[in-house]
Amino acid sequence: MATRAIVVWGSTTGNTETMAKTVANGLAAEGWDVAVRECVGVSAGELADYDLVVLGSSTWGSGELQEDIAPLYEELAFTRLDGRAMAVFGPGDSSYDRFCHAVTTLEERLRRRGAWLVTESCRVDGVVEPKLPRVLAWARRLGAAAREPAPAPEDE
Ligand SMILES: Cc1cc2nc3c(=O)[nH]c(=O)nc-3n(C[C@H](O)[C@H](O)[C@H](O)COP(=O)(O)O)c2cc1C
Repeated sequence: MATRAIVVWGSTTGNTETMAKTVANGLAAEGWDVAVRECVGVSAGELADYDLVVLGSSTWGSGELQEDIAPLYEELAFTRLDGRAMAVFGPGDSSYDRFCHAVTTLEERLRRRGAWLVTESCRVDGVVEPKLPRVLAWARRLGAAAREPAPAPEDE
């Protein structure tokens, strides 16, 4: 039975970290045994130890990944993720042109490597704290949905 989850985050000013802790609480409330790790030093290979992998990144520059998570993102280009239960979250600011584009970038990589994106991603606009109840609800939905078997891969 699926039991082990990991939440890996990259954060410059602490907002993604705050979201990550809330995501972990939501998964724990659904019965998952959750590890929460800052992305620095986390290798793509380690993620195979978990039944559910959740990645979080804020967006910087003009739509770029948070800098610390970029090495893991690069490594994932060479990692098979077929049928792996995964999900993505992140904060951003819709006053920028490419709102939460790092979330989209991560989603695309995971999908291309064959991962099962269990739910739609969680994007938060602006100040994170007032939105944490929504983040918690998202994580609980994710935790429940990830217990189901992965759907059969679609034909290309
Ligand atoms: C210089 C700068 C560039 C940013 N670029 C974007 C962007 O392109 N898209 C976006 O949605 N948010 C952008 N943001 C907003 C950050 O993603 C947002 O403040 C986020 O909460 C930071 O999260 P962190 O503290 O976890 O790094 C930018 C912020 C700054 C200061």
